[in-house]
Amino acid sequence: MRLNPPSRDEFDPIEIASRDEISALQLDRLKWSLTHAYQNVPLFRKRFNAAGVHPDDLTSLEDLANFPFCKKQDLRDNYPFGMFAVPKTDVVRLHASSGTTGRATVVGYTQGDVDNWANLVARSIRASGGRKEHTVHVTYGYGLFTGGLGAHYGAEQLGCTVVPMSGGQTERQVQIISDFGADIIMVTPSYMMAIAEEFERQGLDPRKSPLKAGIFGAEPWSEAMRREIEARFDIDALDIYGLSEVMGPGVASECIEAKDGPVIWEDHFYPEIIDPETGEVLPDGEKGELVFTTLTKEAFPVIRYRTGDLSRLLPGTARSMRRMEKVTGRTDDMLIIRGVNLFPSQVEELVVQTEGLSSHYVLEVRREGALDSLTVRVEHALSGAASADTAGKLRDRIKGVLGVNAIIDICEPGSVERSLGKAKRVIDHRKN
Ligand code: DLL
Repeated sequence: MRLNPPSRDEFDPIEIASRDEISALQLDRLKWSLTHAYQNVPLFRKRFNAAGVHPDDLTSLEDLANFPFCKKQDLRDNYPFGMFAVPKTDVVRLHASSGTTGRATVVGYTQGDVDNWANLVARSIRASGGRKEHTVHVTYGYGLFTGGLGAHYGAEQLGCTVVPMSGGQTERQVQIISDFGADIIMVTPSYMMAIAEEFERQGLDPRKSPLKAGIFGAEPWSEAMRREIEARFDIDALDIYGLSEVMGPGVASECIEAKDGPVIWEDHFYPEIIDPETGEVLPDGEKGELVFTTLTKEAFPVIRYRTGDLSRLLPGTARSMRRMEKVTGRTDDMLIIRGVNLFPSQVEELVVQTEGLSSHYVLEVRREGALDSLTVRVEHALSGAASADTAGKLRDRIKGVLGVNAIIDICEPGSVERSLGKAKRVIDHRKN
């Protein structure tokens, strides 16, 4: 059984408002947000002044292009609370990134921010077919990561029965999903595949689990992975997008009736696509780096935050708001192998389509002499060993589609490290 899409009377009015209404609301809110950031965050005031712009100069949405960008490094430089726009007494929640690639980045929320966030995640779950009668099993990590608590508050806001499972204890995940009758799971796509395996290891058919839909995000995942998850569990697999600097999960989310890329909740976030090299704003439909400006955030407003995620802005379909193309890569995930640019998700697409292979893979990049080499280490599927020509097939596909000569290393199930959250897809030995 699958979930039904929400009917028109279940929508927030803005989900089906006209484009003009949405733009008018955005312009009003944008003026407020720019002023709020300018008056309360020294970094924005300094940057705006240096660029010779003032919030009062904004008379149309397009004028935003005159304002300066901000990026992750700005959060690090202002660690921990330097970019907060409200006094600490008004901050009711903190989240932070793990800081594996530098200083941690810290974000804060007022009660109003937490309420908006819960409403947007509730809207996202509803877009996936969720309703108050459903049980939502949350496997995103609880803690400083925004995934667990973000999903939790949203599911509760919608009135669902929430199971705050968090990541890990894979054996137990299977038992709780089955015993508590989870209708919807919220988890990273890579960990969902580990849960699929655990079902099978216990002799259970994942297609017979109570799950009807999954809301997956926090890492890039390919369309092939979507098809794989849907087939393995007999569920709908929906894409939820977000990032801590802008809010957390629920900045954009897919609609079950369309499954054609996350709808950006444009009443709270203003998206732009820019050329990552020049910073120039690109028209809708063109691929580039996604940039967000928050329209309602009180504690931690961001103006033109460069996400590093590559996408395109697409016209609305199931809702009036624009969609973003599924993010399959980040500017800093791109590998350059002997002059060819590629993203891990492009290799994933081919791995998952190759019969006899699992979706557990890792890419290893080495420098041999002056040349880079790419090894795709992938486990063979649990059911039956890969045949002798599986490696050849994958090698030929990678060469044919991506133009790279890869070494294929097919290994035993269980030998690629499992993540409990975001999967690490690349080991770059060139950086050691
Ligand atoms: O990953 C928030 C989140 C939690 C989103 C749970 C969805 C579900 P961060 O840890 O700050 O926040 O990481 C944000 O993860 O810039 C993207 O590169 C990536 N990302 C998030 N969602 C998706 C997605 C959370 N649906 C970074 N598809 C972002 C592809 C995604 N990449």
